[in-house]
Amino acid sequence: MKQTLIIANWKMNGSLVSNSKLLTAILKFSNTANTELVICPSYPYLHQVKEYIIGSKIKLGAQNVNENITGAYTGEVSADMLKEFYCRYILVGHSERRALFQESNALIAKKITQTIDAGLTPVLCIGETLAQRENGDVKTVILDQLSYVINEIGLKKFKLVVIAYEPIWAIGTGQTASPEQAQTVHRMIRQYLYGLDPIVSKEASILYGGSVNETNASLLIKQNDIDGFLVGGASLNTESFQAICTLK
Ligand code: PGA
Repeated sequence: MKQTLIIANWKMNGSLVSNSKLLTAILKFSNTANTELVICPSYPYLHQVKEYIIGSKIKLGAQNVNENITGAYTGEVSADMLKEFYCRYILVGHSERRALFQESNALIAKKITQTIDAGLTPVLCIGETLAQRENGDVKTVILDQLSYVINEIGLKKFKLVVIAYEPIWAIGTGQTASPEQAQTVHRMIRQYLYGLDPIVSKEASILYGGSVNETNASLLIKQNDIDGFLVGGASLNTESFQAICTLK
């Protein structure tokens, strides 16, 4: 059976002092959590987080990666570098990166390729805006984002990708998708994958993200096709994050 996967996306938050407090608390409950836990801090804190989690069951992840192997890309970080810093996961195509840094499906597919080629697990983030939802375009938007990457990298590589469905209107807004809304999209993703390859569909880890908190997480995780969470704001709060990670 797939293990529940919970990824903390700290975004551009934290400091040496606040990270240290959070990590001390997370380490305490991580052994009782029946989940795979991943922490994605900003690049400068990768080493700090590594020092805390080494020897524990917590894994390290990055929030972004460059699409090239190496070279003159000032300010960028490659997948091989992240691997050297103990990363196992990389978030790719987060909606904030798509919107604020104009990341296209084509760029995202390249980043996923680099991530997989470095031996790391990409977490492909997909999701619709509120306007797209209100127009009835959820299926088209989600399948566009998904199929673009699959067509570029092929199913053999795609089976190594974790999918995170994050409706943009739910991210950081406190307005989470209802369990039914989330399940409907997760099911649709799984059915689409089933049409391509039943095994890939069955084994795919499809996370939900968007204002997950200690109150809504228990109902969301009961949905058949929700395999875990990508958690932003609530992952910065010890009590909330502990509650999410230790759901029964
Ligand atoms: P949120 O962020 O939990 O604060 O909504 C989720 C995300 O952006 O990954």
